Amino acid sequence: MAPLIEIENLSYRFANGTVGLAGINLAIEAGSFTVIAGANGSGKTTLLRHLNGLIRPESGEVRLASVPVFDDLAGARQRVGMVFQDTESQIVGETVADDVAFGPENLKLSREEIARRVDAALGAVGLEKMRHHGTHALSGGEKRRLAIAGVLAMEPQILVFDEPFANLDYAGVGQVLARIVDLHHRGRTLVLTTHALEKVLRFADRLIFMAGGRVVRDGPPAETVKEAERFGVRLPCRVCMDRETDSWLN
Ligand SMILES: Nc1ncnc2c1ncn2[C@@H]1O[C@H](COP(=O)(O)OP(=O)(O)OP(=O)(O)O)[C@@H](O)[C@H]1O
Ligand SMILES: [Mg+2]
Repeated sequence: MAPLIEIENLSYRFANGTVGLAGINLAIEAGSFTVIAGANGSGKTTLLRHLNGLIRPESGEVRLASVPVFDDLAGARQRVGMVFQDTESQIVGETVADDVAFGPENLKLSREEIARRVDAALGAVGLEKMRHHGTHALSGGEKRRLAIAGVLAMEPQILVFDEPFANLDYAGVGQVLARIVDLHHRGRTLVLTTHALEKVLRFADRLIFMAGGRVVRDGPPAETVKEAERFGVRLPCRVCMDRETDSWLN
């Protein structure tokens, strides 16, 4: 069977001529957990935005379950849930609960099912007590939690997280990380970018480094991580990894 996500010869150039991606080839298996790292401007966000057709490649293509993204854009958007780096742009509802309900409502689910998903998603990110708060008045970290809840409520097969830990406090990182690990255990396919490898690396089964719009390393985390500094990413300290993940997950 073909890999769930196939990225073939993907290149992208922005309107001003900047090269975003230069010939990316990747196959991502269903149920895998891939971390993508790299310096600022290396192309991580640009790559993720191709996965559900937010941008159209200059050349090459992305296929999901063998179907080119642009042959079934609605299907791709349903299959791939994306938590953006810029969460502000992702919030559409007046209140926290409305915002999370927005996606499931578009799926035309029953009222009971929508309520169940909203409760579960808010609980998962620790926002249940803020369900009636206006979204305009949330802090940066609360907005990120809300964006994550919105994607969780859609229950997509593939979840893409672009810098999910940015802006989060200690408890927030713990909650989001526990949710991500749980999604992985339940067989979802995860693609995540981060500059904070110590938080996720032990749960991932693949670590990719990007530089200049290209994939420059790709392999098991224990192998590729050794070269982190070469690609402008802080080497995770083992003590930090052990201490942080133990206290979060036990
Ligand atoms: N709208 C745009 N117009 C022109 N160039 C852009 C635009 N968006 C991004 N770029 C450029 O494309 C390259 C890749 O950007 P991208 O946002 O994918 O990097 P990134 O790896 O996600 O970085 P970061 O770690 O800062 O999030 C950079 O050189 C960036 O300056
Ligand atoms: Mg980015």
